[in-house]
This record gives sequence, structure tokens and C-alpha cells, in this order.
Amino acid sequence: MVLPNVMQKIDSHKLIHWFQSAKRDLPWRRNPTPYQIWISEVMLQQTQVAVVVPYYERWLKRFPTVHDLAEAPINEVLKLWEGLGYYSRARHLHAGAQTIVERFNGEIPSTPDQLKLIKGLGPYTIGAILSLAFQKQAAAVDGNVMRVLARFFAYREDISKSSSIKILRQIAEENVPQNDPGAFNEALIELGATICTRTPQCQKCPLRSNCAALAQELEHELPIKGKSVSYQQLFRSVAVVISQNRLLVKKGEKGSIMTDLYEFPYFEVEASGITTTALAGLLKKNFNLATREVASLPEFEHAFTRFRVKLLPVLYHSTQIKPVAGYEWLGREEVAKLPFSSGHRRILHHLQKEQLW
Ligand code: ADE
Repeated sequence: MVLPNVMQKIDSHKLIHWFQSAKRDLPWRRNPTPYQIWISEVMLQQTQVAVVVPYYERWLKRFPTVHDLAEAPINEVLKLWEGLGYYSRARHLHAGAQTIVERFNGEIPSTPDQLKLIKGLGPYTIGAILSLAFQKQAAAVDGNVMRVLARFFAYREDISKSSSIKILRQIAEENVPQNDPGAFNEALIELGATICTRTPQCQKCPLRSNCAALAQELEHELPIKGKSVSYQQLFRSVAVVISQNRLLVKKGEKGSIMTDLYEFPYFEVEASGITTTALAGLLKKNFNLATREVASLPEFEHAFTRFRVKLLPVLYHSTQIKPVAGYEWLGREEVAKLPFSSGHRRILHHLQKEQLW
């Protein structure tokens, strides 16, 4: 393990002073409760601030307290999350709210061991809740903060290695001040999001006089990041089947990536796709459904975890509305309330916009 030179310290006064004047006015920064901090920090994982803001506001309107969230049906929780991606976060929030009600009397707990009992919380979110909500001296190191720390301490190892995450988290812990640890952590996050960005704006940085990367002219070289994950491209022929004004849809199976999210029937195909007649043939063979092609629909892109999917949809009508195992025929009112995976939701919006359904 190569330890960086950690002789220098982050000047927490300078950092917090900068944060107080430079921080963006964000809804979870207006006197937040521990519940609000929990929700916002989970939403902000892997998602940009500008995307999160409207979701956060809608969420708090619908689920103002832990109890409201714990009592909500999962479909409604996922519907409010629709489009944010990484849906396990929403499922974990829902399950976590139930744990908090059952085990902690509806109060977000304030120790690491108790927080570990709440689904979906890892070292970052636990540190963020402890420091931002309870003023405890804990570090909160996410991707943005890793970049700041790697530069400030001129850390020259690949920061995507798990050993690097551990080392940088330990260095962060040694730097969190007793005084206002929450502001310190949020300031590091803000610095990473607004100044110590991929192309850093060092002239504006409150930490520039002690930054090891800047002193060594390594600010553009660091952090070192290994190969990013490679994506797998998939192609799916999607059959949008309407019968008596109802759509044929399937709810994602438990344990699958799309758990509880609704999708149209689809088949994995080659990049060249399949003909609309071949797709109708698959509907007949797999579901015993006789269909008539109505229209080819535009392609939609869809990305989740390490997959990139091209959806190739075709609209069909079926005169029969017979049961199809594992699928449901749903009308407009039901569909409007249900959460769809983002790609299939785009197809659905297209149908509605073009008045095809
Ligand atoms: N990213 C993660 N936590 C954040 C916060 N509290 N404010 C802005 N961006 C964040």
C-alpha cells in the first residue's frame, strides 16, 4: 500500500468559511431534519444535483415523514422515483423507513451500528447522516470528495481501487474537525462539485495554498482513475400490444434489476433487429396472441447498471384480450399510477403524445 504524504492538513476554517459564502441554495440545505438528510443523500448518490432537486421536492410533499414513507405502497414509492435510476435505492428507502418505524420509533438513529441496520446505507451515507444530521465527527467520502482528497494530498494510486477508498476515507477521518463536521463534509462535497471538478478551477479554490497536486503541478493528472466499467449493448424488440384500450405489461420479477417496474413484452435480438412479422410470430408462439401490426414506433435508448439497451418497439392490436401468463392487461388509469422502467416509460409517453393509445 502506498500511503500519500499526509503531513499537510485541510484547513477546516478556511474551507467552512468559503462554503458559507459560496454554497448553492439547495432544498435539503434549508434547516433539514435527519429524515430530509437521509433522503437527499440517498438521492444524490450517483445522481446530479439538478436532476435530484425536483424529485426531492415531490418526494417530501408526498412523504413528509418517515411514517408516511413506511406506510406507502411500494408502487407509489417507485412511481415517485421513476426516471432517477438505480431503483434499489427507492426500495431500500421504503424498507429502511419501515425499519426506522419498527425498531427506532420513527426516529433516524444516530450511531453507526444502528444506521448499519437500515437497508441501503453504506459508509458514505452513514458518515453523511452522522455528520450533517447529528454533528458527529465522521467522514463522508463520495466520488467528488475522493477527487478533492486525491488532489489535495497528491495521492498517486488508482482511486477506483478499494484500497484507495479505504486510505482516503481514513485520511478524511483524520481531517474532520470537532467543530461543525457536517459543514466540513458538505463543503468538501461542494468543492468537488463546483471547483475541484474534472478540469479544476484552482484559482478559485479556498484550499489552493496547501494543495499538494497544485504545488507539484499535478492538478490535471490527478486523480488517477483505472478503466471505467465497460458497457454491454443490448437490442430488444418490444411489442406494444393494445386490446380493447388496454396495454399488455409485465411487472419486473422480485430479485431482478427491474423488480416491481413495469415493462412491455420484449425479446432480445441482434443489432439488426427482427421484422415486425417475426415479432408478431413470437407473440403468437410465446403468448398465443394473434395480432395485427399498427405502426412501427421510434427507437428509444435505455441505460441501467452496466447495460445500454436499444429498444425497437412496434405497436400491435389484438382482438383477443385473453390472459397471458405473467402479464396484465391494464387500462389508462392503472397505467398512470404505475412505475415503468425509464426506456419503456419513454415508449409509453410517445404513445400518449401521438395519441396512439
Ligand atoms: N452530493 C452528495 N451530498 C450532497 C449535498 N449535501 N449537497 C450537494 N451535493 C451533494
